[in-house]
Amino acid sequence: MADNVLDRFDQNMTETKIDASKKLRIGFIGTGGIANSHIKAYLNQPDVEIVCGADLVEGKARKFLDNYNLTDAKDYVDYKQMIAENQLDAVSVCTYNSQHAPCAIYAMEHGLNVLLEKPFTVTLEEAVAVRKAEKESGKVLSIGFQPRFDANMKMIKQIVESGELGEIYYIQTGGGRRHGIPVGWSTTFIEGDKGVLGAIGDIGCYSLDMCLNAMGYPKPVTISGRISGFFGKTPEAYTTKTDCKCEQQKFADLFAVDDFASAYIRLDNGVVLDFRIAWYMHLDTPGDTIIMGKKGSLRIPSTDCWNGSVGGAMKIYHDICGKPTETIVPLLKNPEGVSNVDMKIRSFLDAIKNGTPSPIPSSQIIINQAIIDGIVKSSEVGHEIEVTIPGLD
Ligand SMILES: NC(=O)c1ccc[n+]([C@@H]2O[C@H](COP(=O)([O-])OP(=O)(O)OC[C@H]3O[C@@H](n4cnc5c(N)ncnc54)[C@H](O)[C@@H]3O)[C@@H](O)[C@H]2O)c1
Repeated sequence: MADNVLDRFDQNMTETKIDASKKLRIGFIGTGGIANSHIKAYLNQPDVEIVCGADLVEGKARKFLDNYNLTDAKDYVDYKQMIAENQLDAVSVCTYNSQHAPCAIYAMEHGLNVLLEKPFTVTLEEAVAVRKAEKESGKVLSIGFQPRFDANMKMIKQIVESGELGEIYYIQTGGGRRHGIPVGWSTTFIEGDKGVLGAIGDIGCYSLDMCLNAMGYPKPVTISGRISGFFGKTPEAYTTKTDCKCEQQKFADLFAVDDFASAYIRLDNGVVLDFRIAWYMHLDTPGDTIIMGKKGSLRIPSTDCWNGSVGGAMKIYHDICGKPTETIVPLLKNPEGVSNVDMKIRSFLDAIKNGTPSPIPSSQIIINQAIIDGIVKSSEVGHEIEVTIPGLD
């Protein structure tokens, strides 16, 4: 279904296809960093009206709306009041991770469609609760994995689905940053009660999605994982604009999440997934993503920041006439002027308007969350665990 949605994006992404006679009324819950990329993409759509925004921090929603000249849009501190006082079609939930589940559940219980930022939630139990609210409401819930819309990511899925690699038996994925604990615009990523999950939730979820989505989202059977936070507690881990020691110390004091995670995951399609992700490490890269199949293997070059993009031309290793051969898959570009976030927003709006399934559905992303949750739980108990996902038909 997602591919049908994406087929709408021809090279020009012509707006003539969009019926703008009825505008979808959108509100924001959380108006920090990522809300800016959502709002820019909404404002590129002809069938959207930004009605309101809420942020816990007094005055923050007002400033956010004013920055986009939305002086008539209303601002709130309490998102429940915002939902009560405005006739909305949908909300973008752009809060830090710990607030994803409560805000998404409340919005769907009050009849709203929800575009929820990644990671889905912070625990599997929360993800199950969000899915329950989604099913009961019948509303569209789409999760913010915009790399799905990247032309190269779609090519990875096409290569795997084409059978070119044969049966997949092993995947190595993940990646990381040498010095990249994210504190640039907000400290909520590193705070235990706000981010809750560190590197594993922030960028680990993308690398898992890249491979799981290519295979049609097989389920995890067992997981042996470990998370650690060896670096974030040290002031030297942070490069600040002024190299101010007191700011570095502030970040180190706040840090209470993981900055590295690794796991060995057995999937129910027989594939072994070997995973690692880092916000900080003494290494350039812990490796490219490799997808190994019985007929061929695919190498996907890593990037310095690991945010769900492909770092260079991909390569298929296979035998032609019995001879080891390498086929280069050149890097692809998205249609001119259309970002992955534009497509994330447009596909969400289309699903609402057309009554079609969610473009990035919770039925898939709960599996991503179950793996993240399994790595955390395996780390806590110190051995391999079995994974079951309640409510997944
Ligand atoms: N898809 C992407 O490319 C991408 C990029 C960055 C961040 N994110 C995700 O977006 C989320 C937010 O990240 P950010 O960088 O914008 O963080 P941020 O700290 O800049 O902004 C979060 C905002 O949410 C507000 N908030 C939290 N709980 C709230 C509540 N209950 N009601 C109202 N406001 C609330 C906070 O006050 C804050 O202003 C995170 O989950 C992150 O993983 C996604």
